[in-house]
Amino acid sequence: MPTTQDIIESPKLNPLEEALQKYVHAAYASAGEGGQALKNFLNGTWLGEPLHVVLTDVPIGAWTVALVFDGLDMMSRKREFASAADASIGIGLIGAAGAAVTGITDWQDVDPPARRLGLIHGLLNVGAVSLFATSLVLRKKNARSSGRLFAALGYAAMTVAANLGGKLVYEHRVGVDRTKGQTFPEDFVAVMPESNLAEEKPTRAEHNGVPILLVRRGERIYALAETCSHFSGPLAEGKLEGYSIVCPWHGSRFALDTGEVLDGPAVHPQPCLQTRIQNGQIEVRKPNCKAANQNTDN
Ligand code: FES
Repeated sequence: MPTTQDIIESPKLNPLEEALQKYVHAAYASAGEGGQALKNFLNGTWLGEPLHVVLTDVPIGAWTVALVFDGLDMMSRKREFASAADASIGIGLIGAAGAAVTGITDWQDVDPPARRLGLIHGLLNVGAVSLFATSLVLRKKNARSSGRLFAALGYAAMTVAANLGGKLVYEHRVGVDRTKGQTFPEDFVAVMPESNLAEEKPTRAEHNGVPILLVRRGERIYALAETCSHFSGPLAEGKLEGYSIVCPWHGSRFALDTGEVLDGPAVHPQPCLQTRIQNGQIEVRKPNCKAANQNTDN
């Protein structure tokens, strides 16, 4: 009998996961720019946090309230409590639809081992939704006791799924800003001879072990944190698109001059550094962007 750990680690499910991720990617890609805009919205690039995390509160809250009203209904037999429980389940189902769409949008860009945990998290939530939907149908058919039982089972499935969701964030750091904790110099420090930086070639420099992306475009040199805020992808291996850099791992796109997220799945901006040229050296210092990059040679 396989244990939960066996299921989580089994390589047999990898092809299925890869096929699912490809399918979701293809669905968004087939919609062109509109698909990218929708994906950005569902990832939460406009919010600065994953939208999925916000939406999951709706079913968790609504279904918790539903169980409380079920308890009150059983104790008092008041019609109002039964109606309130039914309405709460319905609200939870609507919220769960939003959480599912945003969740699968995020999941398509999650790598192993978190990918497996994310899939199990999603399947458990599908189970929870099915149980609550069945509960609602039973209630409408006046089979209220069975309806309450299905709601309790749905709540149990949702609780296990929520626990896995917590592991995804706190253990695997899915949705967490991967640049947090990186420290950048307060004052200008030299990170590379100017002559080593070729035109329009993303290049990795380093200061105190923290990688820094340098890009020269004409008169200007741009500097960002080099590890992508999404999953620590190496931006120096990314592709320049106009005045933005595209991460090689999942395609997040960041503005060179501000670090702003232009396309997800990243939702957190890249720390952006101020640059200057001093005595033939490229110097950088702590974030101070928004049109602040200046190249001077004193
Ligand atoms: S690591 Fe995922 S987009 Fe950069």
